[in-house]
Amino acid sequence: MVKHLLTLKDYSGDWINNVIAKAIELKSNSAKYGDILKNKTLIMLFEKASTRTRCSFEAGMTQLGGHAIFLDWETTQLKKASLKDEIRCIEKYSDVIMARVFKHETLMEMAKYMEKPLINALSDLYHPCQTVSDLMTIKEKKGKLNGLKLAYVGDGNNVCNSLIVGCKKVGMKIAVATPKGYEPKEKPDLLTQDPKEAVKDADIVYTDTWVSMGQEDEAEKRKKIFYPYQINKELMKLAKKDALFMHCLPAYRGCEVTDDVIDSKQSVVFEQAENRMHAQKAVILKLLGKI
Ligand code: CP
Ligand code: NVA
Repeated sequence: MVKHLLTLKDYSGDWINNVIAKAIELKSNSAKYGDILKNKTLIMLFEKASTRTRCSFEAGMTQLGGHAIFLDWETTQLKKASLKDEIRCIEKYSDVIMARVFKHETLMEMAKYMEKPLINALSDLYHPCQTVSDLMTIKEKKGKLNGLKLAYVGDGNNVCNSLIVGCKKVGMKIAVATPKGYEPKEKPDLLTQDPKEAVKDADIVYTDTWVSMGQEDEAEKRKKIFYPYQINKELMKLAKKDALFMHCLPAYRGCEVTDDVIDSKQSVVFEQAENRMHAQKAVILKLLGKI
């Protein structure tokens, strides 16, 4: 049966650890895998904007000797035609497909018609590729995952949901602080409205935008509600001394994080962005049965 990656819930901690180990190897020894996907094509479907996801998947396919095709809803028939018909055609040209969509149900609908692996490149509910890359970054920096504590402070969104699933699978503790009414769908080890409680003794402090794509109309209201959840120097002091600061990017400086935190030595945001490429290469190889 074809394997899709729509959420990490469908995979074990061993599977995630294995992908991370492979991603670390791919990063240090990319020449060895330079033609493993020769003549293979990834089709990338974007219903909303992206910098990192688009570039990292496309560059990743180049590094593996394959090819990637970018499609969006505006310049294809996807906007107006039957999704089912379009997907059944797109699948004929590709070996693996990834899609960034507004509604998670769109991915579930696509998966019904696909006999090739489908990868979630972000939906309203989950961002699994981000989490795998983030766990890879933590593993590189801390040498382990099991037993570490990650504190997520901010909106209980797609990034937060995938972190909860991923951290729990690999034996990490995850504490989440959100304002009332903005809790994640998934259940963390600790859910609180108090950022200080979440961050206490954390090995990693993580945040994301307060206004995700599609929520632009709520921007002003959200900024007021979320302001007490900003990651700043004072809050970082409550975490462990050697705590990492993480953010999936794009970051809105002065909102969810201050300059002195995102630009500090503790910040690993650009390593996270780089690791998207290596982690996704490992995910593609795994789903195609190449590793
Ligand atoms: N982190 C992430 O997915 O970034 P993009 O929206 O730029 O792809
Ligand atoms: N939560 C953000 C993540 C962007 C990578 C969004 O959905 O817009």
